[in-house]
Amino acid sequence: MKLAKILAAGAILTVIAGTASAYDADWKRGRIYYRSVCTSCHAASPVGSINPSTKTKAEWTAYLQADKHAKGKDTVSGYVSKAYRAKIKSGNKAAEKFADTPDAELAADIKAFLIKGAKDGDSPATCS
Ligand code: HEC
Repeated sequence: MKLAKILAAGAILTVIAGTASAYDADWKRGRIYYRSVCTSCHAASPVGSINPSTKTKAEWTAYLQADKHAKGKDTVSGYVSKAYRAKIKSGNKAAEKFADTPDAELAADIKAFLIKGAKDGDSPATCS
């Protein structure tokens, strides 16, 4: 009986660990979010659209890791968060569509899109 419990606990842990590490970032979803949420604000700001191809893969990785947006005024993760999506979803289709996506998944998706579209990425991308 004891052994069965230990085995069951082990199986559950394996499932949890498996789901956490098995998440396969979806760059297409990242692209939708980047274009609809990030770019729509940039395009309306003095900064203008920021193409993924303006940075290298290493630069995007470092940028996202630092999580300092707009010269440190706020954070990138803030604009990816469920709370932010909830705030803008009435006027933003992508935010509405991904309203319940876990923050970590959406952040991984956006990163995958930016890395793919980086200056030295698989397919350097513009915003549109
Ligand atoms: C509500 C508006 C808004 C949203 C949403 C937004 N940004 Fe920005 N972003 C700005 C502004 C404004 C600047 C320019 C800040 C400056 O130069 O002072 C900027 C600058 C940037 C820069 C240039 C470097 C820097 O941080 O100054 C990057 C890269 C960037 N944003 C990425 C993102 C990503 C990725 C997202 C989406 C997850 C996002 N932004 C969402 C307004 C926004």
